[in-house]
Amino acid sequence: MGKAQFGIIGLGTMGRNLALNMADKGFIVSGYDRNPDQLERFAAEGAGKKIEALPTMQAFVDSLEFPRRIMMLVPAGKIVDAVIDEITPFLKKDDILIDGGNSHFRDTDARIGKLVPAGIHFTGMGISGGEEGARLGPSLMPGGNKHSYSELSGIFTKITAHSDEGACVGFIGNGSAGHYTKMIHNGIEYAIMQLISEAYSVLKNILGCDNGEIHKIFAEWNEGSLQSFLMEITANIFLQQDDRDTNRQLVDSILDKAAQKGTGMWTSESAMELHVPVPTIDEAVAARDVSIFKQEREMIQGFRSTMPQPALKDKEAAIKELHDALYFGISVSYVQGLHLLQEASITYKYEISIAEVARIWKGGCIIRSLMLNDIRKTYLKDDLIKTLLLDKDYYYNLINYRTATTSVLKLAMDNRVAMPALSSALHYVDMFSTGRLPSNLVQAQRDYFGAHTYERTDIGGPFHTEWNTTAKS
Ligand code: 6PG
Repeated sequence: MGKAQFGIIGLGTMGRNLALNMADKGFIVSGYDRNPDQLERFAAEGAGKKIEALPTMQAFVDSLEFPRRIMMLVPAGKIVDAVIDEITPFLKKDDILIDGGNSHFRDTDARIGKLVPAGIHFTGMGISGGEEGARLGPSLMPGGNKHSYSELSGIFTKITAHSDEGACVGFIGNGSAGHYTKMIHNGIEYAIMQLISEAYSVLKNILGCDNGEIHKIFAEWNEGSLQSFLMEITANIFLQQDDRDTNRQLVDSILDKAAQKGTGMWTSESAMELHVPVPTIDEAVAARDVSIFKQEREMIQGFRSTMPQPALKDKEAAIKELHDALYFGISVSYVQGLHLLQEASITYKYEISIAEVARIWKGGCIIRSLMLNDIRKTYLKDDLIKTLLLDKDYYYNLINYRTATTSVLKLAMDNRVAMPALSSALHYVDMFSTGRLPSNLVQAQRDYFGAHTYERTDIGGPFHTEWNTTAKS
């Protein structure tokens, strides 16, 4: 069979599926996992393909052609470092080690720093598309350096999803740029999922739609401007019967506590650190956190004496407005995430092309959507634009959906249906399109109690005033 062209460490579903995907494209792939059961499963699933399951790290590394191209697909965190420590003694200068997990970008930076002296190229790479994506065509976001990407692109361009603009992979940028971009991807993913679930709540709890109707509405929306992977799977969810003989759809049997592995929170943390607002992503993380307090929510709901009666509303018109409001919220989620990506690219010297990121996201990944076409077009006009909102065409298109958004929010508020992500998107756009905010008052307050100084609108500063009133309370 000859030396293997690619090696995978960690033969869980993602690792196995990626290896099988590569083998299908004609590459020879070696796999290693400490767990003999995983090795056995890999060998069985890859029977008849050009794959080899190796029982030791030494044998695995020796099976690969030089420079070795090795990808770790192990859970983010300490295990990644443990694997690095285990493999490093077997590696040589110019070998390429890829971390394909959802690692924190700061860990990736530290690992690059650790491996650079040995001449080993460490590439933090975001992979999106879940298990099916890994098998049939994911979206890949490799960082690291251009040299190692040139050694990888031949294989990667063959195994990814393809959109009308080519393979959904490209060199993202320097250092931890790949993992940072995947983190932003996930932040946007959280926001879109929350927005869709808020729309679901309006359809179900205010407009009284049953699961069949909700399926039809989402499926129809997926035919138009809201076309996206998340809309498609959401429509499908409402068709799934519960196989536990409950005589209802599975969605109604699922506990309303949303879990998370942390990438959404990391996006918010990074945004706070860089002082770039991403409130819709923040709200999506908070909404998952609120959902965990199930017992408390139920108790507090019991305090309400009466539930408000759903406001009478033309159902068809409300559904149309909901569609437009969802468009508004999703569009704003991309705006926020990409603004943060742009700022991070400058701060961390990633040199990311957002137009290229939008192209890579057009296929294979969880947030692939028709909207990315307009987003890409906008960044192609000016790849360094600070925020999409600064582009008049983008802004005018978005603002067309504002009236529907306020109308949906009023309906939701009247009916105590919470839409935190959608309302944050509206406030964000309203603030970002207000030349003079009330922040002058915040500055006055800071100066009043703490002599923190302020700037003036007319001449340069800073200034401090001995405020001439004494607080009485
Ligand atoms: C992807 C997904 C993937 C994973 C999420 C889930 O792009 O394929 O984003 O990476 O399913 O990280 O994240 P949570 O468990 O935090 O929802």
